[in-house]
Amino acid sequence: MIKPKFELPEQSYKYLFENANDAMWVQDMKGNIVAANKACEKLTGYTRKELIGTNVEKLLSKEFLDLAREVRRRLLGGESLNQPYEQQLIRKDGVARIMKMVTSLLIIGEEVKNFQHIARDVTEEKQLQENIRLYSQLCIKAQERERGRIALELHDDVAQPLLLLSQRLDMITTRPRTKLSQPFKEKVEELHILANEAIGRLRRCAQDLRPRILDDLGLTAALEWMADDLIKNQGIDARVEVVGTGQNLPDEVQLMLFRIVQEALGNARRHAEASSVWITMEFGDGKVILTVKDNGKGFELPERVGDLASTGKLGLAGMQERAQLIGGQLRLQSEQGKGTTVIVETPI
Ligand SMILES: Nc1ncnc2c1ncn2[C@@H]1O[C@H](COP(=O)(O)OP(=O)(O)O)[C@@H](O)[C@H]1O
Ligand SMILES: [Mg+2]
Repeated sequence: MIKPKFELPEQSYKYLFENANDAMWVQDMKGNIVAANKACEKLTGYTRKELIGTNVEKLLSKEFLDLAREVRRRLLGGESLNQPYEQQLIRKDGVARIMKMVTSLLIIGEEVKNFQHIARDVTEEKQLQENIRLYSQLCIKAQERERGRIALELHDDVAQPLLLLSQRLDMITTRPRTKLSQPFKEKVEELHILANEAIGRLRRCAQDLRPRILDDLGLTAALEWMADDLIKNQGIDARVEVVGTGQNLPDEVQLMLFRIVQEALGNARRHAEASSVWITMEFGDGKVILTVKDNGKGFELPERVGDLASTGKLGLAGMQERAQLIGGQLRLQSEQGKGTTVIVETPI
């Protein structure tokens, strides 16, 4: 391969350094700043005169000093480092800002002379992301509350009167003293059957919105109930296994885990063409790991979990949001022809 012979003249490098939009500075091995560009002034609130000679630790918040030392140690030791990384800066006015940073060694001859940094203020971006996350989690909570309310109303205000209606219709035809003509009796019996069907549908609807079994008997029973439904009504072999001693999970955690499994099973039923699913709940030290695995056709995952919503995979995105809501993490594994596994790990 022919190496391009083009090299920027030193003047151009200086220009780039000086006018870059990102803050750039160089510090010596003791952490004293020896060079800084214009954007550093904007980032830190200090003039360059003030910055030169200042130890960089003065600009970092105390909790983040260890991180800075760790970065230097890793670079000097030739260890891997995830870059860019996040660091916290305290501006001259005392306000904390979050920076996304890249750090590298400046080697002159054979010797490590300095550390050089490129930093970008991402405080607003982070805040915006955090707001969006909080908002979507509030939406989930509101949606769950609303579902609970509708389920209760369906049960109390609609199913109960229908139940009464069904009982009355039944009484008309079965009471021995009432003399009914055969055609009339048949009509009333028909109405009785219709009323019972409506009650059945209503119950299923309310169960989907908010299964009573979850509130009454807890997550394990609810998982078994869902597996049973798959076996009986969908012809899919479903198994539930609980490993370790099941601790009492908080209601919200149970509900979110239930929703994740509900969505995963819905996907296995609707998209996977699976013949079997396995649901496993493992209690470990300080955490619970819930896995839903199917033997279906699998699918192509987006590169990043963050891309689920933007690629229209709202069910999967909702699972991730729910996992985050309870401080957990969602992992997806899928390969075409090899099935799909949804794993959610939550601290307890
Ligand atoms: N278990 C699965 N097996 C096969 N394909 C799946 C599975 N889960 C999800 N998918 C694929 O990912 C897509 C997005 O899923 P999801 O976000 O739940 O949305 P929806 O179920 O509304 O389509 C599905 O349309 C399907 O193509
Ligand atoms: Mg879905």
